[in-house]
Amino acid sequence: MLKGRSLIDPMDLSKDELENIFQLASQIMSSPEEFSKVCEGKLLATLFFEPSTRTRFSFEAAMMRLGGKVIGFSEPNSSSVSKGESLADTIRTVSCYADIIAMRHPKEGSAKVASIYSDIPVINAGDGGHQHPTQTLTDLLTIKQLKGSFNNMTIGICGDLKFGRTVHSLLKAMSRYENNRYILISPSELQIPDYIREEVLKYNNIEFMEVESLEQSIESLDILYMTRVQKERFFNEAEYLRLRDSYILDREKLKRAKKDLMILHPLPRVNEIDYSIDEDERACYFKQAKYGMYVRMALIAKLLGVR
Ligand code: NCD
Repeated sequence: MLKGRSLIDPMDLSKDELENIFQLASQIMSSPEEFSKVCEGKLLATLFFEPSTRTRFSFEAAMMRLGGKVIGFSEPNSSSVSKGESLADTIRTVSCYADIIAMRHPKEGSAKVASIYSDIPVINAGDGGHQHPTQTLTDLLTIKQLKGSFNNMTIGICGDLKFGRTVHSLLKAMSRYENNRYILISPSELQIPDYIREEVLKYNNIEFMEVESLEQSIESLDILYMTRVQKERFFNEAEYLRLRDSYILDREKLKRAKKDLMILHPLPRVNEIDYSIDEDERACYFKQAKYGMYVRMALIAKLLGVR
């Protein structure tokens, strides 16, 4: 039963629960009108202490398309946080008014703290450079719809693997599926954190390689997950400027790739994918954004226990 639960980490959901969410998402995609009132009378609070376009809008669009309503802020300075209110008090207050919370916050672990103080389900919409489980739901639904399986693939993940929370959540969730091989492509400064390497990949005996060259790895890939260098997590601007254009996927590099490569990106894109690639049928990142709304509809419906 998902009713009443929070989603803080991708591992909060079992494989069966994920499957149930994807099944509901695909029912919603095929007959959205049947679901247009299931959340009537329910309220989602979106508490965004950090900037967002897709995640916040897709949560809000998801709730409205289920017939529910939305309150919230996208800018902490417009809430009592700017007066020095603690996260615990903000959450306790909001949980008096709303039925479910989606929260994004710059501090790692903040979503977990929020769920402890909340009487209603909390969905982690990104906690610092840590986890982003609903982006992972989005990524997995896209893979399921377009590749049909989560097994037997070579998956390249490229860019900022250190601060990229979408990468950490995706690796955690995917570590439960079989016979995948990961090529982790990043500058040495932006490699995956130790806890992902040790506690997720090595612990589960996952086959992975850490490399620096996209050119040399692209030809073996079934999926290429590109990411942005996470400017806001750098302490040193010069370091960001030096690393930000480490990888740019362009037509030249794509010539070496498989015909059925799937290119994903959680977005926003800065420079990592040349605009000319958008026309290529292997570019799936805008479809991915669309699946994100449907999977959030399914998630909200499940956590609220509505039908
Ligand atoms: C990602 C995030 O916020 O972590 N964006 C998103 O939610 N789609 C990726 C990013 O900001 O680079």
